[in-house]
Amino acid sequence: MSRFREVLGKSLGWSFADADAAALAALIGERAALHGMSGADYVIRLAAREWPAETSYLVERLSITETYFFRHGEQFRALAEQALPERVADRGTQRLLRMLSVACSSGEEAYTLAMVARQECAGPDWIVDVLGVDANPAVLRKAEEAWYSSWSLRETPDAAQRRWFRVGDGGYRVRDEVRRCVRFRRYNVTDADESLWRPAQYDVIFCRNLLMYLTPDVASSLVARMTEALVPGGYLFLGHTDSLGSAPAGLELLHTHHSFYYRRPGGRSPGPRPAPPATAPACTEEDAYNRAISLLREEQFAEALELITAGLPGRPRERDRLLEGVLLAQAGRLTEAMALARRLIDGNGLYADAHQLLGLCLEDVSDTDEAIGQYRLAAFLDTGFALPRLRLGQLARRRGDDRAAAGDLERALDLLPHEDEERIALFGGGFGRISLTVLCRSELDGCEVRR
Ligand SMILES: C[S@@+](CC[C@H](N)C(=O)[O-])C[C@H]1O[C@@H](n2cnc3c(N)ncnc32)[C@H](O)[C@@H]1O
Repeated sequence: MSRFREVLGKSLGWSFADADAAALAALIGERAALHGMSGADYVIRLAAREWPAETSYLVERLSITETYFFRHGEQFRALAEQALPERVADRGTQRLLRMLSVACSSGEEAYTLAMVARQECAGPDWIVDVLGVDANPAVLRKAEEAWYSSWSLRETPDAAQRRWFRVGDGGYRVRDEVRRCVRFRRYNVTDADESLWRPAQYDVIFCRNLLMYLTPDVASSLVARMTEALVPGGYLFLGHTDSLGSAPAGLELLHTHHSFYYRRPGGRSPGPRPAPPATAPACTEEDAYNRAISLLREEQFAEALELITAGLPGRPRERDRLLEGVLLAQAGRLTEAMALARRLIDGNGLYADAHQLLGLCLEDVSDTDEAIGQYRLAAFLDTGFALPRLRLGQLARRRGDDRAAAGDLERALDLLPHEDEERIALFGGGFGRISLTVLCRSELDGCEVRR
């Protein structure tokens, strides 16, 4: 079994959780029987040398291909209103826009890129060139055909639907004007491909909902390739759960249109101001702060609040305000805690801990959907932050989504040993690291599926 996972890790860059073992064992049995082999011989044969037909079958069978047009519309609004106008200004003399959709699945993302570019910025005298790549031959066939059901258009604005689709017996067909801009190519992200990754060629790269399935090595080498392949001033959009943290190498993090995305510095247009770094100012009142944290651990919330609000001279620092917010929430003063968390976020949208605090408050007032959004932001902004992952996992289990729960709980379990002591005091709800780890493990054991 571990050998099979190793083979898939090597050939496709995929990582699997331990709990996938049963499903993978059943698959090995099924494929081995079909080829008239024992399970062990099948895995040995897969590992020994290339077996393209079988690898294609496994990609088609195991990959998650969910996608639709205008998925996460706010990212396409950021593309239309922020990224493309700037790229068009930079490319004014060439009149060429090049975009790449990595892991394009059945093509909806690549076509949406072309629609947005044509609609918003690039007139008919511009060349819009979108390349969609994916390792899965079945989805690429569908992408080439460009016929879709109404379900694939569920987030497509009416105007775009009327302009870019023609209705026929087979559903909705992408109009030729858009199809002419888009090409598809089979490509596995574990392969080096010099022409695909030539430096400084793409204005925009979308790579959404792939990184989370990859081993850390394959994911980081893909990110490095994408960064290098962007023109200076080019933009990278990832999925909501694919975070590079707030300071990725060679990229600046931007936040507009309720979206985070990245830009390669440079280009002739100045670009937007990058979001400020999410660091706390220098410590000046360490003792009082530490004392307030100790009081929080001892559940003496009123005393701690008094110390943190009245006891500190000068302008309160970001983390003092955060502690004040946690204490207000613990003391049941949720409206004030929430208002404080929102003010912290208005001041610095990249402050992961403020999003975590807001998430906890929202959960307390039963706004679970909004709380989930805040936990996702906290986990996105700080990829090492265990506690939002734990809450996301617990909430997913409550919804009965064991697959999503297992992903978050496994990540939380990996991160918990390194979680900051102070964060455990602030957000651990009175539990220490060991109790949180036990809780996380038992939630994970209760999940029936992983990934
Ligand atoms: C969930 S879909 C993402 C679709 C689209 N990017 C979106 O977010 O709407 C993930 C895609 O990744 C593709 N994929 C998985 N492993 C891959 C690999 N090693 N190389 C290229 N594509 C891969 C799958 O075939 C699948 O179509």
